[in-house]
Amino acid sequence: MSRVKNIAFILLITIMVLSACTPADTAAPAAEEPEAAAEAEAEVAEEAEEPAEAEPTTYTYADLVLCYPQLGAESDWRTANSASIKSSADELGIQQLIFSDAQQKQENQISAVRACIQQGVSVIALPPVVEDGWDAVLTEAKEAGIPVIIVDRSVSADASLYDVHLGSNMFLEGQRAAEEMNALLPDGGNILELSGTVGSGAAVGRADGFRDSLNDNITILDSQTGNFTRAEAIPVMEAFLKKYAGEIDGLFIHNDDMAIGAIEALKAAGINPGDIKIVSVDGTRGGFQAMIDGWIQADVECNPLLGPQVMEIALALMNGETVEAEILTNETVYYPDNAEELLPTRQY
Ligand code: AHR
Repeated sequence: MSRVKNIAFILLITIMVLSACTPADTAAPAAEEPEAAAEAEAEVAEEAEEPAEAEPTTYTYADLVLCYPQLGAESDWRTANSASIKSSADELGIQQLIFSDAQQKQENQISAVRACIQQGVSVIALPPVVEDGWDAVLTEAKEAGIPVIIVDRSVSADASLYDVHLGSNMFLEGQRAAEEMNALLPDGGNILELSGTVGSGAAVGRADGFRDSLNDNITILDSQTGNFTRAEAIPVMEAFLKKYAGEIDGLFIHNDDMAIGAIEALKAAGINPGDIKIVSVDGTRGGFQAMIDGWIQADVECNPLLGPQVMEIALALMNGETVEAEILTNETVYYPDNAEELLPTRQY
């Protein structure tokens, strides 16, 4: 074979080999097609199997199990507060209200809160008897994921341990009481203080606010607790009378129940309560009657009718809504001049 023939032969073989390869190369994607189709099919099937994204649950009052470990039944204010919680729970048709009475003992309130945590309630609304000593049990509630509303009095625990504080501005109430005393004793004088439960947010706030705004020409001769009750205020007033007879120009009394007890003690000692300037707190029917009778000269309002707000906040928290951290009640001061007219309208 000539050299030219050899070259032609090699070329021919090369062309044949190349053309034999080409179909295989071009066939590759075709060979992949069934695989891709299977993959796509699997994806569609997977998507179809995926559960539809769950709608967020919206709870209603019918789902709400509310724990209200009431601190006691020490005053008309407290009775009205308990009634407001119970009637609101009833009217709104909440699933369950777990209500207890701690008889003014913090250890009873703590046990009641722990029982509610165990039970897995939706929300705890706690009216704390005193300010300190709540950290441990509030931490337990937080760890259990149960929202907490601090109702009425405040706590000293870190605000991260509860969700909301709903109640009165006790410091402002004390300031208002001082302004009334300043107006009643423009030339100054000696006064006594009958204070609420030792260590309670109400007593601490009112005492501080009172001292903050009291005129310098008024001297607080003494301050003793009557634990917010009528019965305990009587012996305190009797002891005051023994010690300070003839020196008392005014009395700042932290609630109407104690004011009524003190008035009884004054009358029993033959003293006309109207001769002493009495400033009280709450604005209960009893306080209004004492203003009508001429015994109390100014009554600083503290509103116990918190039931509707407690329920509303509890439901909002249950639904994961953001609620203001501090909700303070709007309050005023009542005077004898229109007490008779207002008394029939008073709800507590
Ligand atoms: O914490 C509110 C106070 O507690 C009220 O002024 C008093 O009457 C009650 O006992």
